[in-house]
Amino acid sequence: MSDTLRILGLESSCDDTAAAVVEDFDSKSKILSSVVIGQQELHSEYGGVVPEIAARAHAEMLDISCKRALTQGNSSLADIDAIAVTAGPGLIGGLLAGVMFAKGLAAGSGIRLMGINHLAGHALTARMTHGLEFPYLSLLVSGGHCQFLIVKSAIEFIRLGSTIDDAPGEAFDKSARLLNLGQPGGPAIEAASREGDPCRFRFPRPLLDRAGCNMSFSGLKTSLLRTRDRLMAENGLVGEQDVADICAAFQKAVSDVLTKKSYRAIAEFRDRIGKFPRHFAASGGVAANLEIRKSLKDCCQAMEIEFVAPPLQFCTDNAAMIAWAGAEEIRANKRADSKVRARPRWPLDEKSPPVAGFGKKGAKA
Ligand code: KG4
Ligand code: ZN
Repeated sequence: MSDTLRILGLESSCDDTAAAVVEDFDSKSKILSSVVIGQQELHSEYGGVVPEIAARAHAEMLDISCKRALTQGNSSLADIDAIAVTAGPGLIGGLLAGVMFAKGLAAGSGIRLMGINHLAGHALTARMTHGLEFPYLSLLVSGGHCQFLIVKSAIEFIRLGSTIDDAPGEAFDKSARLLNLGQPGGPAIEAASREGDPCRFRFPRPLLDRAGCNMSFSGLKTSLLRTRDRLMAENGLVGEQDVADICAAFQKAVSDVLTKKSYRAIAEFRDRIGKFPRHFAASGGVAANLEIRKSLKDCCQAMEIEFVAPPLQFCTDNAAMIAWAGAEEIRANKRADSKVRARPRWPLDEKSPPVAGFGKKGAKA
């Protein structure tokens, strides 16, 4: 195998059509291009991602994003060693659009095709951006996912726990809607909370009294709704300061749950691997939240573990992480799967018991 691998990555599992060209030289990454075409404005009037609209938009934009990524990456198909496409988990229409497009491209050009698990892409991002060594602890926290993983190798993941209902980003988005704040809800709530008092209201921290690393966030928005309605009944309105205080309390509740469960995940890592992790990597859109980031960082500092958060553009959905995961799988000598197929449900760790539920971004995994 040559020392250098150049991979074309494609991503279409939710509401971003993305393509990227990434080079792996002796396990060091060079991101030659990373193109992301978002669809947020197509879905905004519906208050969530509409799968059929998403699938059609992916089918239209895959070709364009792919051409852009190759051009910006100074590459032609002749330079590409493999095409890595997200095959799951996610919305079936978008996955099918991506997989069919990639199959056509691979068949027409004779390039090897690999079906990549989207969550593996997120979990391996910290190796692409920071060169982390295995094993490390990873927290994926986004609009569709929330799980703690031990990343043992490029192809071995142990899921320590995950949300049993909403993902935190989904809770941020739904709560922002209840307060008439803009979308995406995470940044809107974070901005409003700056002027707020996190102690005026107290929102629940579910499952903290239970052993293990599973989490729950769906009760938070119900509690927020009750608080909003009570204020409305008492005062006839929900004022700007009320909204700020509600947002600060909400954000604090999410942050507390993620942080307390991070302490548990670190202890479980030690129990399973025999030593504490050297690194704790957070990824996903919610990891952009400064209060949550600070709280996770403090937890790592207390445990003498290095906290790593990839740059935001690689924390959120992108195709560079998919290309990189493809390179990692090739390095790990994973057999090429000749039958790449779309898998809307695809747990990264097939041995851990499944957690039921659907999120804003489709099936949880
Ligand atoms: O990773 P991402 O771009 O897409 C997936 O869900 O896969 O994450 C988007 C989610 C949205 O729910 C958004 O509200 C949330 O991340 N988010 C935030 C912040 N920025 C984005 N949540 C809290 N605070 C933020 N600053
Ligand atoms: Zn994602």
